[in-house]
Amino acid sequence: MFFKPAKLITLAFLLFAGNAHADQISNEPDSAYLFSYNSNGLTYAWSLDKQNWTPIGKGHIFLKSDYGRWGSQKKMNSPYLIQGRNGEWVCTWNLNDETPQFAITRSADLINWGPQFYPYVTLGKNVLQPVVQYDQASDQYVITYTDADGKYFQTKTKDFKQFSKAVTSSAAAQNSTSSINLGKPTPGQYHRVAWPVIANLQKAYEQVQYHNKQNSESTKDDAQRFAGLKQVDAKITLQPAGAKPISDMLMGIFFEDINYAADGGLYAELVQNRGFEYRLSDRQYRDKNWNNSFGWSLKGEQATFTIDSVAAVHPNNPHYAVIDVQKPGAVLSNTGFDGIALKKGETYNFSAFMKQLAGTTAEVEIRLVNDKLGILAKLKVKNSKDWKQIKGSLKPSADATDARLEIRPLAAGKYAMDMVSLFPQKTFKGRNNGLRADLAQTIADIHPRFVRFPGGCLAHGDGIDNIYKWKNSIGPLESRKPDRNLWGYHQTMGLGYFEYFQFCEDIGAAPVPVIAAGVPCQNSGTGGGGQQGGIPMEEMDQYIQDIIDLVEYANGDVHTTWGKKRAAAGHPQPFNLKYIGIGNEDQITEVFRERFVMIYKALRKAHPEITIIGTAGPFFEGTDYVEGWSIASELNIPVMDEHYYQSPGWFINNQDFYDKYDRTKSKVYLGEYAASLPGGNKTNLETALAEALYLTSLERNGDVVSMSSYAPLIAKEGHTQWNPDLIYFNNTDVKPTTGYYVQQLYGRNSGDQYIPAQLSLSNEQENVGKRIAYSIVKESKSNELIVKLINLLPVSVNTTLDFGPIKPIGTTIKTELSGQPSERTVRPITSQINLQGNDLLQLPAYSFTVLRFKI
Ligand code: AHR
Repeated sequence: MFFKPAKLITLAFLLFAGNAHADQISNEPDSAYLFSYNSNGLTYAWSLDKQNWTPIGKGHIFLKSDYGRWGSQKKMNSPYLIQGRNGEWVCTWNLNDETPQFAITRSADLINWGPQFYPYVTLGKNVLQPVVQYDQASDQYVITYTDADGKYFQTKTKDFKQFSKAVTSSAAAQNSTSSINLGKPTPGQYHRVAWPVIANLQKAYEQVQYHNKQNSESTKDDAQRFAGLKQVDAKITLQPAGAKPISDMLMGIFFEDINYAADGGLYAELVQNRGFEYRLSDRQYRDKNWNNSFGWSLKGEQATFTIDSVAAVHPNNPHYAVIDVQKPGAVLSNTGFDGIALKKGETYNFSAFMKQLAGTTAEVEIRLVNDKLGILAKLKVKNSKDWKQIKGSLKPSADATDARLEIRPLAAGKYAMDMVSLFPQKTFKGRNNGLRADLAQTIADIHPRFVRFPGGCLAHGDGIDNIYKWKNSIGPLESRKPDRNLWGYHQTMGLGYFEYFQFCEDIGAAPVPVIAAGVPCQNSGTGGGGQQGGIPMEEMDQYIQDIIDLVEYANGDVHTTWGKKRAAAGHPQPFNLKYIGIGNEDQITEVFRERFVMIYKALRKAHPEITIIGTAGPFFEGTDYVEGWSIASELNIPVMDEHYYQSPGWFINNQDFYDKYDRTKSKVYLGEYAASLPGGNKTNLETALAEALYLTSLERNGDVVSMSSYAPLIAKEGHTQWNPDLIYFNNTDVKPTTGYYVQQLYGRNSGDQYIPAQLSLSNEQENVGKRIAYSIVKESKSNELIVKLINLLPVSVNTTLDFGPIKPIGTTIKTELSGQPSERTVRPITSQINLQGNDLLQLPAYSFTVLRFKI
């Protein structure tokens, strides 16, 4: 007997034990008192008699301050809540004791809050206790604040965008802050509200609790959750008549220079700090060793090693090393990124700009050395009077994992050097200034349809000055402009836009560059007083021109200004750029909106052929998500980028997320997502299967979800700022996670048509149904059908596949990933089977199966 699986998500408002239940009161009153107070966030309590108070949701925070960097810097002080124009709720608060800004936002229901505004004021030492009042006569909000000197000031607004110049005020506003007893005297404001307001707040809290419970669903509780569950029978009946076209761009990758993904990672350069441009500011002055000489050391007597910047090789690369040798023997060495890994017999290309500053031009010995094995290779180069690029090659006589590069002047003198580089000749596809072959190949093996780059947060940067500028990343290496990497290290820009485009072409993927929307990261620590800020309006025209120039650089004729530069770099053919992302999970403020709209309109006008991807904030819900999507609808943005990092339970319980999306609106690019285990931020088979399960829902919704990419992609062991990642690596090994194989199985088995099917199960429990997922797609060019089946249950699922009129031809390739959910090194196993149609297939407990056959 088969049942259809119960509907996935039926939101029953569960009743939680604890406080008196506002939605359970019989003979409901018409109204009640609401008290708003602070708990580093806006919190409410309710009362019928103004004496006995019940905190709603045990002090649940309904509004948090978004100002400042991560965590503890985001403070809400002295929130002040009123009901203003047409009953809308308005809240002000002070941000800290220094900033001449306050916060203001509004809400229709006290639950969902609009964007937060942080207006600057021009009077007062700081802003303390901003009190908002609504002046009905002038239909304005009046904000009165005090400062450290106890003086009072006022500013006014009608629309929350324009605030009048602050003026002094003779006295404090009529401040209605009172106090109630919640175990201790608690200051705040009283409000008289209709009873449903209280009931809705309680419901909103319960809804959050309900979702938290769902999100915590984990296989570690499966023995209890599925106690007594026997094998489940499933029947999947294909309904080819309902086939629909889906995106053939669904599976892509997102490469961000995070976790040493570029320098020390994919970019094959073996010398660290080759340009002597590391700066204390790269690490926000927290590491005094992180300076121009990082990675380098001088050994030997009667010699000095200094950094100079007079008459540099290029102004964009102003520092260089000077070694002053009184007596030959001193050696300047570089230990690379955690040592230099070498392979016996392979060729390594050395190059450097050198100049003899004093003494006659002499020879310099370049060698590869290992403590245990001694000198593995050496060559001699001749120095010259002026800056000259010197090149040579080295072939190590043995393998080594921790070699170093040594530079040894053979005569006394003063030697300047810059851009000291060592590159394996065998880069990915043999490219000059290329990529580490094994790592690039592992990425290519996913078969991504596109590559999003260079970030992430890296693209919009930490503060306006740190916004990634593509023009700084092209041209001869010595002319590229290195920058601080906001993930706490340095970007040489060696892996720049040319190399990104080249890599995309080499792996047959479409390039998807992401350009900041004229605003840096919402958590910027530099500039903007710990807040977003935006490129000054007078600089926006040039900023927009730079974006338009990017299209010319990628696609323009070789006679155009920027097309000529691409050709000069060795690629006269266009790179066929079709997509540009504007913005990265930004805070959707007025500052953002203004700049985004300017960029969007100008780019659309100049290049209507480019598909622009907008941004819907860092979460799958909330103010930025709502505001981002509202801009999308207003401008009819072709594609919107969404991000969410969640628990396996979230992915299991939200498989219908896109089923509900409006097909007439923008398409979706799920640009960043990953399932990770709470606490450890680790991945295992459970997280991989949760992703595989969720990806079936992306294929099912492939008519609205057009692209997706897991994040982050790669991470160097020992230099990881973000976990989990898809692929870990060190200098010699590449270590894909189990989630990598899920991406690969989807990447290699995607289709362009979705074939719906009906699933019937022998067990009608909702929690059983949502652990089984399937997706059937057809790849038109090969005329092959691909069936993906996920079983996240602790028992096997006996599956009958009824293909109806579709007939499998020849053998079927079956690939299976299965094991214990906590296993971290599960790998796919491929076999060949004979599938007829109406076959029985056993899906092992905790497994992902892919079937592929001709039809
Ligand atoms: O993927 C890591 C980071 O996560 C990205 O840089 C950013 O966009 C997101 O917050």
